[in-house]
Amino acid sequence: ATANIGVVGLAVMGSNLARNLASREGNTVAVYNRTWARTESLIEEHPEAEFVQAKSVEEFAASLQKPRTAIIMVQAGRGTDAVIDQLTQVFEPGDIIVDGGNALFTDTIRREQAVSAKGLHFVGAGISGGEEGALNGPSIMPGGSPESYETLGPILKSIAAVAEGEPCVTHIGTDGAGHFVKMIHNGIEYADMQLIAEAYDLLRNSAGLTPAEIADVFTEWNRGELESYLIEITAEVLRQVDARTGKPLVDVILDQAGSKGTGVWTVQTALNLGVPVSGIAEAVFARALSSKPAQRAAASELPGPSTPARVEDRDAFVEDVRRALYASKIIAYSQGFDAIAAGADEYGWNIDLGSVAKIWRGGCIIRAVFLNRITDAYTEQPDLVSLVTAPYFTEAVAGEQDSWRRVVAHAATSGIPTPAFSSSLAYYDGLRAKRLPAAVVQGQRDFFGAHTYKRVDAEGTYHTLWSGDRTEIEATDSH
Ligand code: 6PG
Repeated sequence: ATANIGVVGLAVMGSNLARNLASREGNTVAVYNRTWARTESLIEEHPEAEFVQAKSVEEFAASLQKPRTAIIMVQAGRGTDAVIDQLTQVFEPGDIIVDGGNALFTDTIRREQAVSAKGLHFVGAGISGGEEGALNGPSIMPGGSPESYETLGPILKSIAAVAEGEPCVTHIGTDGAGHFVKMIHNGIEYADMQLIAEAYDLLRNSAGLTPAEIADVFTEWNRGELESYLIEITAEVLRQVDARTGKPLVDVILDQAGSKGTGVWTVQTALNLGVPVSGIAEAVFARALSSKPAQRAAASELPGPSTPARVEDRDAFVEDVRRALYASKIIAYSQGFDAIAAGADEYGWNIDLGSVAKIWRGGCIIRAVFLNRITDAYTEQPDLVSLVTAPYFTEAVAGEQDSWRRVVAHAATSGIPTPAFSSSLAYYDGLRAKRLPAAVVQGQRDFFGAHTYKRVDAEGTYHTLWSGDRTEIEATDSH
């Protein structure tokens, strides 16, 4: 046995990860794919990688040094279970099976239980950065046992992206913690993408900028606090001209956004945990709305505002949109980190939020200069209850909020849909409110269902005899 690490599944992500591993000092990489042809072409195309090739899963196991460590890179779902089954048959106690796909964290919890019952380690590892990241350095979020991380950690560190001199990988927590955090990463990714898309829409349809001009604006923004991979690539998308028609490519791309599930999972999970991730939810819903052509066609002639709001000062508006984007982005991340904290509580994971922010600084899709500020916030205040209440972010939002309010108001009066901008502002105002109309909801619930309420000035649970003389009684049980 010569290989210290193996990769199963050699589609683009798997091949790129295997090549990344092979390019790092100290690694010898065994590769296995269900169909041999794919293994063959990888080896042919990349002789420099010196892979140890396996034609069968038995050969693959035999080529790995103990404890055997293998990363599965197949489509999440049944394919993953099938490969785990195969590997558990040829691996031995102490060996480590890593799932590097976008698995649902509850599947990972289930798989970890089943695999560890056989004495093997199972690690669900979120890997972000797309194809390019897999090849040159992704951000990696491994779960599983601390013991398995002793073997796996150095290998993952050898291939991860590096940010501020540190590899973008850390042991997130046990069993499904890594895939949970990757799921939230993707949820935040959805919100971030939607916010940038809304900014584009406002600049295009209110300020009248062309896609190429907006690309220039985004390139400019990318030199400041908004500097991020997503802003950078959006500028490139907007600058692209379609070869067939000569139009901006964005104008010939069908405006129906697809999704593969991680955003939906984030929202479903957050709903179960009772965490308002409204920015992420709006991003998921915005994709859903876009993908309803029949409804959109039927509604396309519905009246909009009689006099669309005009942008008086274009430069001032562009700056307002930039500030609104930054404030909304702070809210999206704040909500995402809340969801991680709630998940950790629910599933018994000891997740260090500051470390999560750190490993998202490089390699992943949401990498941004801004992650440094989040890292600082958790370093200064490890028990921070809400990111938006950290001094840096409080000040940032305070500085942007006039712009933010103007943009949301403008969008409403001009009929431009900005669900993520608007809901983020509503969340901010809800969170900071001294009194919420939740008191009215409690009154309503007590009225029709005797669901009881608590008082601000006394302990206990109360009910008003709404259909009687309307006196208040102390209730023993609340429903
Ligand atoms: C990443 C990406 C990656 C993938 C998403 C896209 O972190 O590298 O998030 O996981 O591109 O699955 O998700 P949708 O297809 O749902 O937009």
